Amino acid sequence: MRILSGVQPSGTLHLGNYFGAIQQHVELQGPPGHSEQAFYFIANYHTLTTVHDAERMRALTRDVAIDYLALGLDPARATFFRQSDVPEVCELAWLLSCCVGRGLLERAHSYKDKVARGLEPTMGLFNYPVLMAADILIYRSTVVPVGKDQQQHVEMAQDMAASFNAAFGKQVLLRPEWRFSQAPVVPGTDGTKMSKSYGNTIPIFPAPGMTEKQIFKTSFAGIKTDSKGVDEPKDASDTLMMLYRLLDPQKAAEFEPIYVKGGVGYGDIKKRLCDAYIARFMPLAAKRQEIASNETYVEGVLEEGAKRARAVAMQVMAEARDATGIVVGRNTHR
Ligand code: TRP
Repeated sequence: MRILSGVQPSGTLHLGNYFGAIQQHVELQGPPGHSEQAFYFIANYHTLTTVHDAERMRALTRDVAIDYLALGLDPARATFFRQSDVPEVCELAWLLSCCVGRGLLERAHSYKDKVARGLEPTMGLFNYPVLMAADILIYRSTVVPVGKDQQQHVEMAQDMAASFNAAFGKQVLLRPEWRFSQAPVVPGTDGTKMSKSYGNTIPIFPAPGMTEKQIFKTSFAGIKTDSKGVDEPKDASDTLMMLYRLLDPQKAAEFEPIYVKGGVGYGDIKKRLCDAYIARFMPLAAKRQEIASNETYVEGVLEEGAKRARAVAMQVMAEARDATGIVVGRNTHR
């Protein structure tokens, strides 16, 4: 079994990323010494569909690597690398694109959503699911932990693996399965799904130097509620309780009966939320600062991960080329 997931370095990571994906990635790592079980990578080629600024791309890529290491990614228990360190993935994407019907890609919700939101409909954006399928298939991944928004993409990878195998009459690519985390939807500060594009996010790491008061003000005070007064019974499944259960399940469970009964105001639970957030993420923010100051360490982790990932990718790519009859010189791909 191989677990694989990719994370786009498309901006400051937020609680939606954490509870929807990162937490599960960390939990799914293998035991120490078994870094081959889980592969996680920084999907910088995917981010090229939206970021056209080299300086920013470099910064975002570095930041997400540091974030993951601070949040518990352990290079002894998982293989962590940059997508771009395994160029074979782009090569496989081409082979797949020659087997996939345009109709399949035209049904991609994510493409339609992005274009509806005003992104330029480039070929990269259109082919996004093909590159993602290549990411998954090139490592013979069988389990792909993703958020609900990526389910269709993994299903497309299943289709593409089957089409490739059928087209060339060889079982080269394995069928991957998607798997959801426990919290597929994390509400944002306005109650809709937390997402960078909706501007309703709470960052995992507050900006360095922020006081607790500032954190409360910027991320928690403004969470949208209805106008129930202090004494009125509250809804156990409102945005505030949902976030509280994610941040501190135990305290949230203790608090819930009081909240539902009435007698506590929204201001009070917001304070509790902020406290739970600080208790959970402030120590990690300190760790993050430490990792950030050690560039050699971060680069070393990524290069070591790339070495391991690439060894697998080269093997599968060789089989895929062989199945298609695409010939390369013995020394071309090293
Ligand atoms: N598309 C994914 C996202 O935006 C990132 C991604 C790229 C990915 N390649 C992948 C996820 C392969 C899982 C497997 O979240």
